[in-house]
Amino acid sequence: MKTIQPGILAAVPPLARHLTFTLAAEAGPGPALERLAKSVDPGRTVVGIGRSTALALGCHVDGLRDFPSGAGRGLEIPATPGALWCWLRGEDRGELVHRSRSLEALIGPAFRLDAVVDAFMHDGGRDLTGYEDGTENPTGGKAVVAASLSGAGPGLDGSSFAALQRWVHDFEAFDALGRDEQDLSVGRRRSDNDEIEDAPESAHVKRTAQESFSPEAFVLRRSMPWAEGTRAGLVFLAFGRSFDAFEAQLGRMTGLDDGITDSLFRFTRPVTGAYYWCPPVADGRLDLRALGLR
Ligand code: HEM
Repeated sequence: MKTIQPGILAAVPPLARHLTFTLAAEAGPGPALERLAKSVDPGRTVVGIGRSTALALGCHVDGLRDFPSGAGRGLEIPATPGALWCWLRGEDRGELVHRSRSLEALIGPAFRLDAVVDAFMHDGGRDLTGYEDGTENPTGGKAVVAASLSGAGPGLDGSSFAALQRWVHDFEAFDALGRDEQDLSVGRRRSDNDEIEDAPESAHVKRTAQESFSPEAFVLRRSMPWAEGTRAGLVFLAFGRSFDAFEAQLGRMTGLDDGITDSLFRFTRPVTGAYYWCPPVADGRLDLRALGLR
C-alpha cells in the first residue's frame, strides 16, 4: 500500500529537529538514500528531497521546483535551498540529539549536515506571539487530499511537497503594537481565537484565507516555534499536493496581487526558505522509485 509519510499527518509533536543537508560534490547520493530508506521510520522522521539531489541522480520529479525568492514592499523572501531535509519528531531532546547523530553517520559522507533547528510545541500549539496556530488546517480525508499527490502513478502517488521557512520574530516590535493591533495583524483574537470579521485586508488570516483563492489553496501546516539564545520565532512548515497553494498564499502575503503586505511582516521575517519533495511510503518504508532507487 502506498501512503503519505505518516509523520506528516500526525499531530505536531512536543519536540522536533529540522536537519538540513548539503550534497558532497564527490559522492553520488543514491547509496546514502537507499540506506536512509531502509532504516528510517517515516512515522518519526519525515524525509524531504531537494531538487539538487534529484538532479544529481539524473531525475526530474514533476512539481519539484526552486523556492521563489523575491521582494515585497520593504521585505525580502530569501531562498536557501538544501539537498535533503529530515524532520525528526520526538518527545525527548536528548533522544533527538542521538537520532540526529546516527542519521548523520548513516548518510555521510555523501550528505553533509548544514543546519540544525530545534523546534518545540508551545502552550498546546501556539506561536510564540501567543496566537493559536493550525486552527484552519484541513483534517481527516481533507488533510490527505490537501497534502498528497494522487493520480500521478506509482512512486509519486502519496508523495507530498513541503515548504519550509524559518521566521525570526521581533518581539519588541510585536509588544509595541499593543493587543488590539496585534489581534488585527493576525485577524484573530488571541483571547478566544475568534476570527475578527472586520479585520483589515492586511490581516494574516485575510491574506491567506484558503477558501478565498481560485482554485482554493489548502495546505497542511505543521509549524512549530524555535528558540536559540535570545533569538526565536516560527519554523513554518506546510505540506501540499503541489507548491501551488503555498505560492498563492505567499504571493498574497507579500502583496503580489494588490500591493497590500501581510501585517505579520510588522514583527517577523523569514530568514530561510526551501522546497522539498517527500517521497511516499510503500509497505512501511520510503518508496524512492521516482528517483530510480530501491
Ligand atoms: C511567522 C510566520 C507565521 C505566523 C506566526 C503565522 C500564524 C498564523 C496564525 C496565528 C494563524 C491563525 C490560525 C490558523 O488557522 O492556523 C494562521 C493561519 C494561516 N496561515 Fe499563517 N503564520 C505564519 C506564516 C505563514 C505563511 C508563510 C503562510 C503561507 C505562505 C501561512 C499560511 C497560513 C494559512 C493558510 C492560514 C489559514 C488561513 C485560513 O484559511 O483561515 N502562514 N497563521
